[in-house]
Amino acid sequence: MQLQDILYSQGFGTRRVCAGLIQRGHVQVYDKNKPPALVQHTLAATEFEAHELRFRVDGVDWQYADKAYIMLHKPVGTECSQKPSTYPSIYTLLPAPLRQRPQKGAVLGVQAIGRLDQDSSGLLLLTDDGQFIHRMSSPRHHQPKVYEVTVKHPLDARQVGQLLGGVVLDDDPRPVRAAACQLVSTHHLRLTLTEGKYHQVKRMLAAVSNRVEALHRSQIGGLRLPETLAAGQWCWLGAPELALLANAPAL
Ligand code: URA
Repeated sequence: MQLQDILYSQGFGTRRVCAGLIQRGHVQVYDKNKPPALVQHTLAATEFEAHELRFRVDGVDWQYADKAYIMLHKPVGTECSQKPSTYPSIYTLLPAPLRQRPQKGAVLGVQAIGRLDQDSSGLLLLTDDGQFIHRMSSPRHHQPKVYEVTVKHPLDARQVGQLLGGVVLDDDPRPVRAAACQLVSTHHLRLTLTEGKYHQVKRMLAAVSNRVEALHRSQIGGLRLPETLAAGQWCWLGAPELALLANAPAL
């Protein structure tokens, strides 16, 4: 695959923009035979085996990926929408190539799988793999999500029992229940849900006469938000991380 096509597929802009980046010396490629040697390439048409190609653009390292799978530590005070109404969009936290990866001729970039409220923080998955988004979003494949919930009023065993037994929310007569509920302290609850209704944690706590003061998602399926990933930071998901998610693609 030509170097300009590789850059184009990874979201660095139109083929013409990518050719310009290469010709002006912005792109270096890691030499597979002499790692970690970096070789500057100024010919846009130079051919490479795209898979596993590692390269550097303007000092930032990239690795070729057919599809991008990433996790973001969403900070409080950001919106998951591409067109936010009040707070900055989470997409402004991602580098441009992740936001403009081409797909079937259009520029789509990665999309969040599900949402967190603007005042919630924690683990958010993003990808440009439409089938993966579809599988992860299907009610049949919902996987457990763990939330650290800080509440206004002291928690007691009765509230925990109600959350585990099922509470009725205003839009559906069928009760929703927590798959697990651990009282960490008087004002801190670790709640595991296998559904994803609108404002579900906040509404469940309101249904037991309490109120959510802070909400943080720490885990999806078997994948935990690493403590080393600070709020606002993102990182790639490799095969070992994806294997912790049910129905994930095998890389
Ligand atoms: N439940 C909520 O109420 N808010 C979130 O952001 C996620 C789950």
